[in-house]
Amino acid sequence: MINIGVFASGRGSNFQAILNAIQEGLLPARVVLVLSNKGDAGALEIARAYSLAAVHLSQKQFPDEGSFAAAMLDVLKKHNVQIVALAGYLKKIPSNVVREYRNRILNIHPALLPSFGGAGMYGHYVHEAVIASGAKFSGATVHLVDEEYDRGLIVLQKAVAVEVCDTPETLAEKVLTIEHEIYPLALKAFAENRVTINERSVWIR
Ligand code: GRF
Repeated sequence: MINIGVFASGRGSNFQAILNAIQEGLLPARVVLVLSNKGDAGALEIARAYSLAAVHLSQKQFPDEGSFAAAMLDVLKKHNVQIVALAGYLKKIPSNVVREYRNRILNIHPALLPSFGGAGMYGHYVHEAVIASGAKFSGATVHLVDEEYDRGLIVLQKAVAVEVCDTPETLAEKVLTIEHEIYPLALKAFAENRVTINERSVWIR
């Protein structure tokens, strides 16, 4: 059993997929905290509906990154978070938090990294860029979080074909289905201690 802290800025469908996997007995974990930089995020509403700790924490509430990071670490420790799952969290994780939770922060990205990632590559921008590139496959990537956007080691990926008739909206829908499939799987591997991390790669047994 592992304690997951979910960070989300939006509606929280990946968070919901994680909860579903736990409820179905597929993921041996509990969500002990949901944190959002947005007070009105759908993810916080889901958390409250499930009586889970729901915390609104934003850099704007603090004078500098150091005090923001300290507050984030306090919340993580208070709730005994062992692994952080970013699920549509649109802010950078302060470097002190990355350091303290090195190899224990995951993110899900709606494309096949290392392509179509980085600052500004989120939401519909990703799917628009994929279609504009003429790429024949897209997909979802679960990766470790380091100091750079979308640059940490890849944990799990699944591809989906880009069809000639796809629009950013239809592609987003197909990719989201895959996200909901692979994020709980990646977390399950961490929860079951089946993950080996070295300098260049992550392997799941
Ligand atoms: C997902 O597409 C995820 O890949 C990206 O942000 C989106 C979040 O969606 N990081 P949701 O809030 O989980 O529905």
